[in-house]
Amino acid sequence: DPVATPDISTCGPADLPQGANVLTCCPPPSNALPVDFAPPGAASSSPLRTRPAAHSVTADYAAKFNAGIAAMKALPADDPRSFAAQASVHCAYCDGSYSPEGFPGAELQVHNSWLFFPFHRCYLYFFERILGSLIGDPGFAIPFWNWDAPDGMRMPAMYADRSSQLFDPRRDGRHAPPKLIDLDYNGREPRFIDDQQIDHNLRVMYRQPNQGPGPVENIPHGPVHIWCGDPSQPGREDMGNFYSAGNDPLFYAHHANIDRMWSVWKGLDARRHTDLADPDWLDASFLFYDETPKLVRIRVRDVLDTGALGYRYQDVPLPWTAARP
Ligand code: C2O
Repeated sequence: DPVATPDISTCGPADLPQGANVLTCCPPPSNALPVDFAPPGAASSSPLRTRPAAHSVTADYAAKFNAGIAAMKALPADDPRSFAAQASVHCAYCDGSYSPEGFPGAELQVHNSWLFFPFHRCYLYFFERILGSLIGDPGFAIPFWNWDAPDGMRMPAMYADRSSQLFDPRRDGRHAPPKLIDLDYNGREPRFIDDQQIDHNLRVMYRQPNQGPGPVENIPHGPVHIWCGDPSQPGREDMGNFYSAGNDPLFYAHHANIDRMWSVWKGLDARRHTDLADPDWLDASFLFYDETPKLVRIRVRDVLDTGALGYRYQDVPLPWTAARP
């Protein structure tokens, strides 16, 4: 059977690590029943939104993006469009607050499974629509952290600026720019010089998407989380723990790149790299608030093609495709 829509009326306590200082992960409840997602459609004349590489955006773009995050942060936490409510979505879906409808004992978990890619795609999609509507620009596209290419292997500068809305104090201070990321970081600092680190990262990248989207969830998805989080926090908050990761604006850029990897993987070999055809996967569904805000039920089959959702990724080189180990 397909994974049932979560029953958000019964959002329960999350399985939080020791020392987590949150009371609940449950997003604000809705009085209305969810509506089924309707794709923006070919009829809509709006051009595709192009998500840019975060390290190469203009100052104007960064200012706009900052304004959008500021607007989300300014909303009260009981507004589902608020930054706090958006961050809690990740905690609720990822720390066991939900049970699928009809399975009160079972906990829904979107990680370590084939729900990983579609769940996060939906999450970013609604986040982007909310942000765009709050700044009056429905064409606004969120950035991706291009950690798979040498120029993107540092924390993008706009996130590291302490005066910015994109800054999060709960990060590993040693990893602020110009430190290069280690794409298979495991908590120990590698002893590479920069050229070696870049080379190492390209090889890590080469191995992963070529094996299909499954392995990407482990590496580099997990290591990037750990690399960002603050090692002096009990659970490496924010990025280093599921329940808190959504509190760091960098989370959405990291996941935009993960989402981009799904598209890149399909493009690498369009004939063999195809999505699962299993209806249980295709009909699995999630609930999200849109920008109006109303509760929407969206299925995996609705999100297989980013074009149908009205966005694409900036075309950037894929140096790792040639980094055969
Ligand atoms: Cu839902 Cu990067 O985790």
